[in-house]
Parts: sequence; C-alpha cells; structure tokens
Amino acid sequence: MLADDLETIRAQALHSLEHAGLDALEELRVALLGKSGTITALLKALGGMEPEARKARGAEVNVLKTVITEALTARRAVLDAAALTARLEAERIDVSAPVRPEVSGAIHPISRTTEEIAAIFGAMGFEIKDGPDIENDWNNFSALNIAAHHPARAMMDTFYLNATFDGRPAVLRTHTSPVQIRTMLAWAREAEAKGEAGAIRIIVPGRTFRADHDATHSPMFHQTEGLVIGRGITLGHLKGCLIDFLRAFFDSPNLPVRFRASYFPFTEPSMEVDIGWNRKTGEIGKGGDWLEILGSGMVHPNVLANCGIDPREYQGFAFGVGIERITMLKHGIADLRLFYESDVRWLRHYGFAPLAPAMLHEGF
Ligand code: PHE
Repeated sequence: MLADDLETIRAQALHSLEHAGLDALEELRVALLGKSGTITALLKALGGMEPEARKARGAEVNVLKTVITEALTARRAVLDAAALTARLEAERIDVSAPVRPEVSGAIHPISRTTEEIAAIFGAMGFEIKDGPDIENDWNNFSALNIAAHHPARAMMDTFYLNATFDGRPAVLRTHTSPVQIRTMLAWAREAEAKGEAGAIRIIVPGRTFRADHDATHSPMFHQTEGLVIGRGITLGHLKGCLIDFLRAFFDSPNLPVRFRASYFPFTEPSMEVDIGWNRKTGEIGKGGDWLEILGSGMVHPNVLANCGIDPREYQGFAFGVGIERITMLKHGIADLRLFYESDVRWLRHYGFAPLAPAMLHEGF
C-alpha cells in the first residue's frame, strides 16, 4: 500500500496515461519524471528526512516511479504499434490492381517505309548517306548535267533562298541526288589519294522540296535515291537490284516489273520502272495495268566526269523513289496531305508499333 498522497499521484498518472496520445505522453513523462517532475521532486524531498522515515518513504516512492515508468513504456508501445498499423494501411500497395494503360506512340508511315527500304538495301550491302536540305545549285543541278535552261531550275519548280552556299545560289534541294554528288566527289578524292577506292553503294533517304501543292504533291516530301559506282557495272545490275527491291518491298515474289525508256539529264540510258497492278481495285501484283513507281538509269558520263571520276574506267547506276507515293500505294492511303496533318487518330490507324523495327527476314 502506498501512502495516500502517493496513491493519488499513481491513480491520476495511470488514468492520464491510459488516454494519452503520443504528444500528451511526452508531456506526461516530463511532468512526472522530468527534472522538475512530480516523482523527481518526491525523490529530492527524501534528502531532508530522518533515516528511518526516509527508508520507508523511499521504498514507496521508488515503487511509484517503477509503476509509472512501466505504464509509460507500455502506453508508448501501444501508440507506436497503432501508428505503424495506420501507416501500413495508408501506404498499402495493391499488387493485384490492373496496370495503368500504357500510351505508346507509333512510327509514322513515312519513317516506316524509309526503314523498310534501308533494311532491304542494307541486306544488299548498301550504306546510308545523308546531306543538307539547303544545297547550292551546282550540287543540285549543274553537277547532275541539268542544263542552265532546264525547266526544273525555274522558280516555279524550285525554292531559291536569298543566300549563297559555297559561293553559289542556295536552293532547297529538289531531290537527294546532290548527296550522290557529294559522295562521288569525296570518293574520287579518296581514290586519288590512295590510288584505288572500293565501290560506292549508297542509298540516300531524306526530305526534298518543290514548289508544288495538291492532293498528290506537297512542297516538302521524301525520297530515297540510290547510287552504285564500280568497274563493269551494267544495266543488268540495275534491273536485278530494283526488281529484288520492289518484290521485297511489296512482299510479292512474282511482282511484274517493267523497265520503260525515259529521260533524265543525269542518266543515260534512263528508265522509268513500272509495277503490275489493278487500276480499278488498287491491288498490287496482278490485274494487267502498269503503274510508274521509280526513276532510274546508268549514271551519265558527264556526271561522273563532273565528280572527277573517269567514265571510261567506272560505270554506275542510280535510281530515285518517292517515299510518300509508295507508302500510299502499299497502305491504301488516298491523300498525301494526311501525312503531314499530325492527326493522332490517323497516326494511330496507319502508324507502326515502335518496338517492331523493319527487318528484312520478316518480309514486309
Ligand atoms: N533525281 C530524280 C528525281 O528526283 C530521280 C532519279 C534518280 C531518277 C536517279 C533517275 C536516277 O526526279
């Protein structure tokens, strides 16, 4: 039994502790056991007592101190456990909840076609080259044997910039052929320095610009041109290469392909290449109609000579294909302008899965 005053302190303290939250608990600890706390004061008061009385009183105060300390510890344990449970509950992760839907982008059909072309020609040993959108008129026209009076040079066809590039009038390139010129010039320099250079086998995908705008023409469009230069390159190489390309691209092993004589200033002879299709249904590969698909020819001796390559030693062929055009044909897209409208619904429909790159072995 504790003395009455100690019993009162005990009863009050235990009652307060029982209902205390974490903050109140700390306040109670300070009020009871702190430097100027009630229990501390009781212990201090022992010092002024007679030895006999001190012994009895001291034992009781110590019992009281132990009871209160244990009650404090017990209450703190209860509160800590409750806080932890509440936190676990609040931060719970439901691993069985369905994942948030992924919004993934799509590869634009223009990019996809370019990748497919690169995969096909890559498998044939071609490398990819690029060059600037702004060119000068020598790289874009003169070096390609396009005469000074040629209508393609007229302002109504070509965008001229109010600037010069390497000392010549600057134009937005009207085809990616100037990259062929750059490649041949660099190759001739290398051949001269080393006495010999390997063959050129390149494709040049890129943006091109012409002053044209309707449902099938856009002032900016895309092309891929190709160039092969080496010793003893013939029309047979050109034909085999383009037939293989077209059959792979349209995934049609027996696709009819026709070479039709044509004219380009930079090739001689020049040929337009047609594929078989059905004009009424748009179906490619059968139907008895012909559809022009690309331009090609043996590189004109003047072009080789303009680039410092001796046409008696080296021959080559070149071709050019419009990316929008063959993409429209392959995927049944009716209006060229849709390519550039950035309509997400259109892109979702005609776009390609981003993680499925074009690979030749899959066929296209
Ligand atoms: N440069 C031509 C064009 O843009 C395409 C072409 C390239 C034709 C190579 C023949 C040979 O129209």
